[in-house]
Amino acid sequence: MVVVRILEFLPAYSYSMAFGSVASIASTKFDLNSFGWVPGNRFDDEMFYKDRDFYLSFFHMTISAPSPAYFMNRVYQSMIGATLIWLYLDHVISSNRGASYRFYFFLERKYWVRICGIDAKKARNNKKKAIGANINDILGNQKLVDSVENEMQRVIENEQNETYADGLRIIDIGKIYRKLPFGMESPKDVHAVKGIYLEVEKNELLCLLGHNGAGKSTLFNMMTGIIAPTSGMAKICGLDVREDQDQIRKLMGVVPQFDILWNQLSAAEHMRMFSKIKGVPNHLIEQECDDLLTQVDLLDVKDA
Ligand SMILES: Nc1ncnc2c1ncn2[C@@H]1O[C@H](COP(=O)(O)OP(=O)(O)O)[C@@H](O)[C@H]1O
Ligand SMILES: [Mg+2]
Repeated sequence: MVVVRILEFLPAYSYSMAFGSVASIASTKFDLNSFGWVPGNRFDDEMFYKDRDFYLSFFHMTISAPSPAYFMNRVYQSMIGATLIWLYLDHVISSNRGASYRFYFFLERKYWVRICGIDAKKARNNKKKAIGANINDILGNQKLVDSVENEMQRVIENEQNETYADGLRIIDIGKIYRKLPFGMESPKDVHAVKGIYLEVEKNELLCLLGHNGAGKSTLFNMMTGIIAPTSGMAKICGLDVREDQDQIRKLMGVVPQFDILWNQLSAAEHMRMFSKIKGVPNHLIEQECDDLLTQVDLLDVKDA
């Protein structure tokens, strides 16, 4: 009865079996012989743990049905199992949450280091250097515009010398939008961003121009962790965009090209929501919210 064994892991099936067997004893039934309703029997505690035998008169056989407790255990087991599977897939499949983990992430020390929040800085410093190549190896025979080549040189040198990136440092970042799941290649893949090197120092302003479809939004989405880079990496204030988004989110603000205000939310509700996203501690949220609304002269309509 393999099918039944599999069915048992569907919470709805197991629950209905458990419930059904309690109900068959305890509920009021309509009896065809006396043509009237007969009240159910008392359902004692021990009956919950007892298997029951049913005589099937048509087949002249007796079958044994597991106890309600057995089925309820199955419900709990499948709930725990489903939660574990969900957690695992949520880490491994990179969908909306951006950067994904390796399929064996739970075996990696750095995962638990990050989860526990202990010596996160130390782990980051121990990380091996991102690039070891020099510019000629990367370029080969291809010739880039001088300014692009100079920037590339500067980024590579800074990274190799482990100069702290106090702004933004983008190292050979690339994005290929795959048509197929699990990184499988297909002729329809879109190579949206190809090996960009760029460094923007603190207090510098950089303007990124490009025609439609040049890959500007893709680059931004990689910086903000909305999508994961296919290759390369970037650092924001020394933090890796592939791995340290939790901390980056606290430092970075993004104004997208579309309107992100909701008609349903008041000004204060917007502030509270973004405070949560940016990790403002709960007890500071209301004060922060009032301060910001005061700055833009919207305090009097905060809940309007
Ligand atoms: N989610 C996606 N799936 C597949 N292709 C995409 C996706 N997003 C963008 N692209 C493609 O990647 C390229 C770069 O797009 P985008 O980064 O939006 O450019 P820009 O913001 O500079 O206009 C375009 O060819 C676009 O069609
Ligand atoms: Mg765009």
